Order: sequence, then C-alpha cells, then structure tokens
Amino acid sequence: SNQPMIAPSILSADFARLADEMTAVGGGPGRGADWLHVDVMDAHFVPNLTLGLPVVESLLKATEIPVDCHLMIEDPDRWATGYAEAGAHNVTVHVEAAQDPIALAKDLRAAGAKAGLSIKPGTPLESYLDVLKHYDTLLVMSVEPGFGGQKFITEVLDKVRKARDLVDTGHLNLLVEIDGGINADTIEQAAEAGVDCFVAGSAIYGADDPAAALEALRDKAAP
Ligand code: DX5
Ligand code: ZN
Repeated sequence: SNQPMIAPSILSADFARLADEMTAVGGGPGRGADWLHVDVMDAHFVPNLTLGLPVVESLLKATEIPVDCHLMIEDPDRWATGYAEAGAHNVTVHVEAAQDPIALAKDLRAAGAKAGLSIKPGTPLESYLDVLKHYDTLLVMSVEPGFGGQKFITEVLDKVRKARDLVDTGHLNLLVEIDGGINADTIEQAAEAGVDCFVAGSAIYGADDPAAALEALRDKAAP
C-alpha cells in the first residue's frame, strides 16, 4: 500500500460543535484527514443511536473533506443510496444487513459514490468474495460495531491479510479499511497486515490536539 490514509471518526467528537471538530482535523495536501468517517447508527442493527441523513447533509455542506458514511443500520438497501445522492464520497453498508449487496453497490455507484462493504469481527470474508468484486472499499471491523473506545480485536487481522493478498494478486480491486480500537499501540500491526485506510475515533478526538494525534498515527502507519 502507499501513503497511509487516516479517517477520523466524528463519533468521538463533540456533537454540539461538529463543524469546528471537522475543521480541527483538516489540513492541506498530504496533511490532515483524508476522509471524515461518519457513523450512522439506528439503534436496531447496533445498540446505539447517532445521527442520520439530515445531519449528514449539513456536514457535507460544512466541509471539503471527502465524507465516508459508515451505515450501521438495518435495511441499507432502502436507505443507503440517499447518502450517496447527498454527496457522500464513500457509502459503506454492512454485509450482515444488506439483502442484495451487489444491486446496492451498483445503486451507490450510479448515485456517484464509492461503494463500501463492512464486515463485523465474526463474519468470515470467504463467503463474500463474489460480492466484494462489486465494491470499492472493504471496511474490516476490529471491534463489535456500536461504540467508540473499545479494545482492538487482533484476530481480525487475518481477514485484512487475506484481503490484502487478494488485492495484491489482482483478484480484487478495493481499498482496505479498518475500524475500531486503532491507536498508537495497534496501528502498526494493522499497517503490517496491509490496511490502506485507518479509521480512528477516540485516539484522535480524545487527544488534546486532534490534528497532531492524527499525524502521529500516520507516522506510525507509514511503511
Ligand atoms: C464503532 C464505529 C467506529 C468508532 C471507532 O462502531 O464504527 O467508527 O468511531 O472508535 P474508536 O476508534 O474509538 O475505536
Ligand atoms: Zn465506523
């Protein structure tokens, strides 16, 4: 992989000051957030509730940084395309929730977004290789989805290595993302396993200087 990408998750930001919090991790070329990761939770697919399309629409107007929408919701077949139409750069749905993930990927791309597929820690990659051919990104969850600040599940790195190998051998063409428990202690092993893009919430927004914490993570992830 090339220069590591860092996507701060605003789940750990101050929700009353989201525009300022997005600016706090911005920057110029080669600096700051590559993507802003926005966690949409519906209190059904996961036991937590965050924000939805109206808030995402406002966030999109308030930032130039590409927005990466991680939809932890039931029935993404019905709801996900709205986020693409609103202008999200990347819309990620859960394979455990999607009824027809191949059709959904086509809809997302037709609406102008990159299509992302996320898998929970206990979901095997092997079952979804044909589906992944239709996607631009694979988001490997390294915690159970629902909350920030949880402990990194090291075992999921086997899935990262497998995905990296399939990409490097030309069997898949996608960007490998990891989400959950990424911090200064865990990012190096994830980088070694072949991650392209690192989502980090509490490690960035829990720091006194989020922009500095972001660059410190990128330095640790660099090959
Ligand atoms: C959890 C979310 C993550 C979360 C990660 O379900 O998908 O994006 O913000 O938080 P940290 O980096 O604190 O584990
Ligand atoms: Zn997420």
